Order: sequence, then structure tokens, then C-alpha cells
Amino acid sequence: MKPVKIAKDIYDVGVNDWNIRDFHGYTTDLGTSYNAFLILDKKTVLIDTVKAEFADQLIDNISKIIDPKKIDYVISNHTEMDHSGSLPRVMHKVGEEKPLFCSKMGQKNLSRHFRQKWNYRPVENGEELTLGSRTITFLETRMLHWPDSMFSYLKEDKILFSSDAFGQHYAGMEKFDDLIGEAIMPHAKKYFANILLLYSPLILKLVEHVTNLKLEFNIICPDHGILWRKDPGKIINAYVKWSRQEAKNKAVVIYDTMWHSTEKMAEAIVAGLSEQGIEARPMHLRKYNRSDIMTEVLDAKAVIVGSPTLNNGLFPTVSDFLTYMKGLKPKNKIGAAFGSYGWSGESVNLIKNELESMNIEIIDPGLKVQYVPDDQSLEACVELGKKIGKAITG
Ligand code: FEO
Repeated sequence: MKPVKIAKDIYDVGVNDWNIRDFHGYTTDLGTSYNAFLILDKKTVLIDTVKAEFADQLIDNISKIIDPKKIDYVISNHTEMDHSGSLPRVMHKVGEEKPLFCSKMGQKNLSRHFRQKWNYRPVENGEELTLGSRTITFLETRMLHWPDSMFSYLKEDKILFSSDAFGQHYAGMEKFDDLIGEAIMPHAKKYFANILLLYSPLILKLVEHVTNLKLEFNIICPDHGILWRKDPGKIINAYVKWSRQEAKNKAVVIYDTMWHSTEKMAEAIVAGLSEQGIEARPMHLRKYNRSDIMTEVLDAKAVIVGSPTLNNGLFPTVSDFLTYMKGLKPKNKIGAAFGSYGWSGESVNLIKNELESMNIEIIDPGLKVQYVPDDQSLEACVELGKKIGKAITG
């Protein structure tokens, strides 16, 4: 990726990672990008870097615009290694003595990642850095999504460098929202559902804080994916909606199966939901990645989970998914459990307990079928689907 001009003297010098398909367990079917930003003024500043293996590309991109040695300041908005991994190479190239601005937690985290004695300049929330004709204001965004996270806001240009927030795992030649249109929204939604969902209350507070500050945004520049220049309000509004966890009349039936019995039950439950006019789909845990299932859970009212009983417990993929979903703290959901068994049949209760521990309202005691469901059992599954459908529509 060549440097992309964002505004006068402001560039994205980041890189596309076209081939990544697994981002710590999150499927990135279209790759991702690591965006980094260069601002030229009396003082030249680099905001964030890229994954370590792309350091050469980042330095090449910077060199197409300016000799890296002429960079005066480096800002680290976030210390996770997809944005800090190239810092050692960059600081070596730029000059180890150059000021490195970050949050207080950023300094601690960078020290624990890289063990370097860089010229750290930890900043306070609201602190300003003058570049010449421009000013950067630092905004602390602790736990969005790491303790060190912060935003950098370029006051005169009204450009927000928002770190992971408002990002999407997407690699493409289109670098702005107006060049890709609505097609980017599923990627933004997946990013929110899997990275930011558990911080929903903090996001709502942050939006309120920014509204009170009367900050305006001409462009929002996240560290992944496209930049929002045509309609930055669109992604802010989407974040507010997702953070409120407003659900649609929708259910997700998540399951695994050994001999297709739990699968038949899942499909019959979906049929019952569908009869009630509910958008529903069965999602087999070895056919869909957990990150894609979580994206569907985000705006679903009902989460129905099924597992065969294996060795007196849950099928491992079901445990995996429940652990993952629990960590992301979905809210305002109803749920139920189902599954087939041979002789002991613990799975349904185990799922129910897990859903309850997530404050998911259980609306049925759960449905167990021994070995293979007959017509009567399948009819009971359809009825369970209808019951859930009625609970969804209230
Ligand atoms: Fe894109 Fe939290 O790193």
C-alpha cells in the first residue's frame, strides 16, 4: 500500500495485511490493515506503527514523503502489538532520543513489551501538543479496549485518530467510507461484536463526554480498515446503537452435533421460530467461526444453545463458544438450551447454568432427546421455537 493522502500534509502510511485469516482467533476473511499516520508541520509526528513484520513497508512509506530522521515526535495511541510491533525499528530509524508520547499506562505497557529506555512523554487526558500550525489533544480512552488506549485529536483539522475504535478488519484499495459504501458495515459490526462489546457502557459514556466537549469530526481515522470522511456520524451512531444492545426480532441457534441428532433439533427449533416470523438461523460450531457467530448474537434477542452430552459434559466447541460469549458480556438477551444424549444427559443443564451466569433470561427448562429425535420430539422442538418466538415479540 502506498501512502494515502488524508488532508493537506496528513497521510496514512500504514500497510495492508492481505493474507491474515486468523487474528488471534477472529477470522479475517478479507485480511486487515494496520494504519499509521504522518502529520507534517513545524514538528513532524508519526501516530502509531504496524505489526513487526511490516516495519520495512512502513519505513518505505514514510520515506516516500519525508526522511524518517526528520520525524520529531512519535505517538503511541495503543500498545497492542499490531500497532506497536514496529516501534523498535521505527525508533531506531527516527532516533531513540525523540519524544514518544503515550498514556501513563502506555508507558508501562510499552516498557513491558520492549524493555527499551525510550524518551517517554506520558500525557494526561486533555493535554495538548503543539506542532506549529496544528495542535493535538490527547483523549484518554482507558479500557477501550486496553488500559493504555487513547485517542489523538487534531484540533484545527477536526481529525480524530481513534486507535482500534471505529475500525474494521478489512484490507482493500478503498481507503475511505465513500469509496466502499455500505459494504464496510458488516466488517465494522463484526469488529464491534468481537472486540468492543464488553465495553459498551464505557463507549456510551465516551460518546456523551465527546458530545459535551462539542468536538466535531471531519474525519475519523481508526488503526484498521477504512477512514470515515464522508459520514463520520454514521459509525458513531452505529456504535451507540450497538452499545445499547438493541435487539432485533432475531434468534441464533448455536450448536454442535455428533450423529446429527442435536442438529435435527436445531433445525426444528429454527422452523418454529420462523413460523413466528422471527429471523433465525442454525449455526454449527464447526462450520462457523465463533467470531462470526458472535456477530450474529450482537443484534439477536434470543440465544439458543445446543450440545450433545459427551463424557458427562458439553461438546468441547460448545464450551469454547460459551466461554467466549461470556467474556464479551452480551446484555438484554433471552435464551434456552437443548441437546441429545445417550445415557447421562448433563449438557442441557450445563448450558442453562452458563447462560444464567451471563444474565441471559432462560425462558424454558430446556429440551433433551435420548439418542435420535422421533417425530414427536421434533414437534416439541418446533414448539420450543414457537415459544421463544412469542417471547421475542412479547
Ligand atoms: Fe488493533 Fe487492540 O489492537
